[in-house]
Amino acid sequence: MTGGTVTLKDTSAARLLCVETQLGICLRSWFAATSSEKQYHARNDPCASSQTLIRAHSWRVTLRGVIEISRQDRVFILTGAGISAESGIPTFRGAGGLWRNYRFEEVASPRAWQRDPRLVWEFYSIRRRVAAAAKPNPGHFTLAQLERTLQDRLFLCTQNVDSLHEQAGSRRAVHMHGELFKSRCDRCDRNPFDDTETYDPPADIPRCACGGQIRPHICWFGEVPYHLDRIFQALSEATVFIAVGTSGVVEPAASFVAHVRDRAQSFYVGPEEPANACAFTKCFLGKSGELLPSLFGPQ
Ligand code: OAD
Repeated sequence: MTGGTVTLKDTSAARLLCVETQLGICLRSWFAATSSEKQYHARNDPCASSQTLIRAHSWRVTLRGVIEISRQDRVFILTGAGISAESGIPTFRGAGGLWRNYRFEEVASPRAWQRDPRLVWEFYSIRRRVAAAAKPNPGHFTLAQLERTLQDRLFLCTQNVDSLHEQAGSRRAVHMHGELFKSRCDRCDRNPFDDTETYDPPADIPRCACGGQIRPHICWFGEVPYHLDRIFQALSEATVFIAVGTSGVVEPAASFVAHVRDRAQSFYVGPEEPANACAFTKCFLGKSGELLPSLFGPQ
């Protein structure tokens, strides 16, 4: 034990495992570490013969320098709603899911917009208020730091429409599902524009100069995600793929990991296995705000 850190070196599991002893919890941490080490195990379902599952006791144990990135690597990061959960923005699915009384298709589709644009704006006005109050968490900051370190060797693709990556310092996040604080015309091809307003009923739907209605700049169900050319180009160059906080059920993002499978190491970070878990090389189970800061080692 040196400098408040216990590093286990004897087993392959232990090589990856570093136990931080914080605030005088040395002895308990040691036992937490050894039990965590036991939980580091190869999955035994057929689709995961080469996959490893790592379960972290996030309250004491951190994984340090686990994801090795060489000078030649190109890193593709895909984030989902889970990375913003610790910032107070609810995820879509599972516990804490957003607007559970409504199916998303009822408020996030071109059909919903045609049927009831006021309801759609009410939904996105609530989301704007929630997102405006949120602050980035250590997961966002870690990815921003990683971008500063790797520069154009890192491609950050987010399904999230909040601006927490940007607030944390990421300069080149690609929002494949749009941006909550932008709006656009539903008729003409005027560029999306910054818009932090909320439009709650009974407010009128704002209008474009062309007469069209102003809608959120969001990719709704049935619409094509944005920036797919750039995204697939980056996927074709990636040698390390990391997905964070996404349930792996919404396409095309759910298939990105399969796209890189032949040439990239792939990692998942989140508290539970995603639906596409068997496509990943390793899954790190825990909250991204707690795990991400310790996955890349000192930068
Ligand atoms: P989901 O709500 O489907 O999944 C969120 C994931 O985050 C789940 O797998 C959780 O286990 C995980 N999670 C929860 N808390 C976490 C934490 N603290 N750290 C890390 N992970 C955590 O969200 P997405 O997969 O992002 O699309 O959903 C994809 C798309 O479906 C969204 O972009 C949205 C939605 O329909 C559009 O709006 C177009």
